Amino acid sequence: MIAEALQYLATAALTGRGYRRFVRYSVNLWSRAGRCSRDWAAHEENSKNAVRAAISGFSQRRTAVVLGSGLLRDVPIEDLADSFDTVVLVDLVHLASVRLRLRGKRYRNVRLIERDVSGYDDLKKGENPEPLGFLRGVPYLDFVVSANLLSQIGRGVKRRYETEASSGMPADTVEQLMAAHMQGLAALPCRSCLVTDISYVVIDRTGRMQEEADLLHGIAPPEAKASWDWPVAPFGEESRDYEIVHKVIAAW
Ligand SMILES: C[S@@+](CC[C@H](N)C(=O)[O-])C[C@H]1O[C@@H](n2cnc3c(N)ncnc32)[C@H](O)[C@@H]1O
Repeated sequence: MIAEALQYLATAALTGRGYRRFVRYSVNLWSRAGRCSRDWAAHEENSKNAVRAAISGFSQRRTAVVLGSGLLRDVPIEDLADSFDTVVLVDLVHLASVRLRLRGKRYRNVRLIERDVSGYDDLKKGENPEPLGFLRGVPYLDFVVSANLLSQIGRGVKRRYETEASSGMPADTVEQLMAAHMQGLAALPCRSCLVTDISYVVIDRTGRMQEEADLLHGIAPPEAKASWDWPVAPFGEESRDYEIVHKVIAAW
């Protein structure tokens, strides 16, 4: 509890006013990742390996952008920082502990940007959402990874859509914005890598599936080059009686 409180206070102090409301989600994720570190290790390594495979054989390594860099647990930051001239980390929140870790590594080529990449505000203004349009302004862009971000965009957009129920947002807001993220990645003039969980199952102690859901809201993901299971909530995390396992894909 004390560690969480310190993480929260230090991060809030370093976070722009418009993004402070997201700090508690990042701190919650950090706590859960710490509790579940053993169960999440294979997922984190698989995610890093997908990024490593995606950048292998590159002749030019100028700028790499990581969307949803978060805790930097499933991103091979050392490989990226060592091999690209500049690495740009984009997230709603960059935790104080992540900033400290980067400072400790003395990376001079890693930049942090706070940004909502959902595209919700564009859609709200009645504009065609182009959530990744800002990448056109990134000089010498050679690589973009969306790092276990897409389903979280869906969650955040759904939560905001339900809170702002009378705001006139289209009924398919979540679907439109998830599709816009995938289209934005596919339309980039450089290589991109999408790592995302696409669905989950709830399994009880007898091994029986109790529930399943599509995390992409019916939007078809690109063809996967790798896929694996991620026990997001092992037995005991949300309940002693069930575990929640997500299916993750990587495409590049
Ligand atoms: C599952 S975490 C990703 C973990 C991260 N890749 C890592 O290596 O630890 C999802 C991340 O997406 C970020 N996120 C969620 N919605 C976002 C949005 N609309 N714009 C930018 N980042 C967002 C969250 O803050 C969180 O850090």
